[in-house]
Amino acid sequence: MSGAGDGGGAAPDGGGAARFSLTVPSVSERSEIAVGAGLLARLPDLLGEYVPAHGYAVIADETVAGLYGDRVLRGVEGAGRGGGGGGAGGAGPTGRLYTVPPGEALKTTGTWARLLESIAGDGFGRDACIVGLGGGVTCDVAGFVAATFLRGVPLVQVPTTLLAMVDAAIGGKTGVDLAAGKNLAGAFWQPRLVLSDPDVLGTLPDSELRAGLAEVVKHGAISDEEGFGWLEAHASDVLGRDSAALRRVVVDSVRVKMAFVSADVREGGARAALNFGHTIAHAVERASGYRVPHGPAVAMGMVVEARLGERAGVTEGGTAARLGALLRALGLPASLPGELDPAAVLEATRTDKKARRGAVRYTLVERIGAVARSAEGWTHEAPDRAVLAALEEARGAAGAL
Ligand SMILES: NC(=O)c1ccc[n+]([C@@H]2O[C@H](COP(=O)([O-])OP(=O)(O)OC[C@H]3O[C@@H](n4cnc5c(N)ncnc54)[C@H](O)[C@@H]3O)[C@@H](O)[C@H]2O)c1
Ligand SMILES: [Zn+2]
Repeated sequence: MSGAGDGGGAAPDGGGAARFSLTVPSVSERSEIAVGAGLLARLPDLLGEYVPAHGYAVIADETVAGLYGDRVLRGVEGAGRGGGGGGAGGAGPTGRLYTVPPGEALKTTGTWARLLESIAGDGFGRDACIVGLGGGVTCDVAGFVAATFLRGVPLVQVPTTLLAMVDAAIGGKTGVDLAAGKNLAGAFWQPRLVLSDPDVLGTLPDSELRAGLAEVVKHGAISDEEGFGWLEAHASDVLGRDSAALRRVVVDSVRVKMAFVSADVREGGARAALNFGHTIAHAVERASGYRVPHGPAVAMGMVVEARLGERAGVTEGGTAARLGALLRALGLPASLPGELDPAAVLEATRTDKKARRGAVRYTLVERIGAVARSAEGWTHEAPDRAVLAALEEARGAAGAL
């Protein structure tokens, strides 16, 4: 893969961690990404090595703060002192925990502004580091705080959902929602360090685990046939939260996301591959009045877009069926709720913010493990009647909503 070194790869766990570094060529920024079971205990060493600072402002939602806040605070206070927080000699860095209520509803400019005021009011300065501890909501907000506090201070992400480990914490997109739509205010700001400890996924609700798995399947489908095949063989280990299985899932998936991000940091071309399944997913979310959450919507979207590709002769026959089987094995939906009118979903694709000049474009795969390029780059225009036919084919029974 391009632009990313890998110091650990798929080596057996044994307490070791997979390390990647993502160098962003256009801005020469480097992100160190460490994935390993039990890695949270090594936070002091990793901070000392990659992000030494006088003070760490840790941002977490209340749920995650209750579960992991103390451990992370002890970790940041022990940074650079040989670990553990009780080290010899001199005062260590200060750590302070800032909490916000959980949920997307608080991913707002108000939360962002309050955090900035609190952090500034507590006397943090240029030598501070912001630590995002939590799911994608927290990583996005904390990242935007880091990007804007004093025009930018170092950022560390400690993702605690599978979705944040494989998606939200990787790639440098940060931001908050506006009344006019999701993620409309933000900045690109690369974390210096991303520390993913799959052991924290043990406390994650099942629905949140599955939401992350939808993006994991997407990463396999666009670029990692081996990882996809491994998931097919080990779906039950993953659902059972076997630590080594989760680590493998995170490592494979991070590798894919990093490859596309480093090829296209500011999202003009290759990064579009990561939208596989998402044009239909966003339309399903909107057409259902947001009763279908993002993860299941991505699962449905991938099946529909694979069918669309098969109809267009771009995607190898049987791909939609193979995707559907894996998604079902992982507890994700492979068909659209019968209550959803395919025509309404089609209509909802037209307001996708990724639609250019009115034409709706789709990311398609050639087969499992390979995204399909088009004459125009990475996305394909699809006629309405083909989209409608694919939506109708993927329609399941009523009762899912
Ligand atoms: N920046 C990006 O590139 C990017 C990419 C994808 C998604 N996102 C954003 O990510 C957000 C969704 O993230 P999410 O799904 O992680 O949601 P989330 O942050 O709301 O977390 C989901 C829930 O799980 C809880 N939780 C988190 N970790 C836990 C743990 N270890 N144990 C128990 N409970 C835990 C949280 O308190 C929350 O209630 C959206 O806002 C989306 O826009 C950003
Ligand atoms: Zn997504």
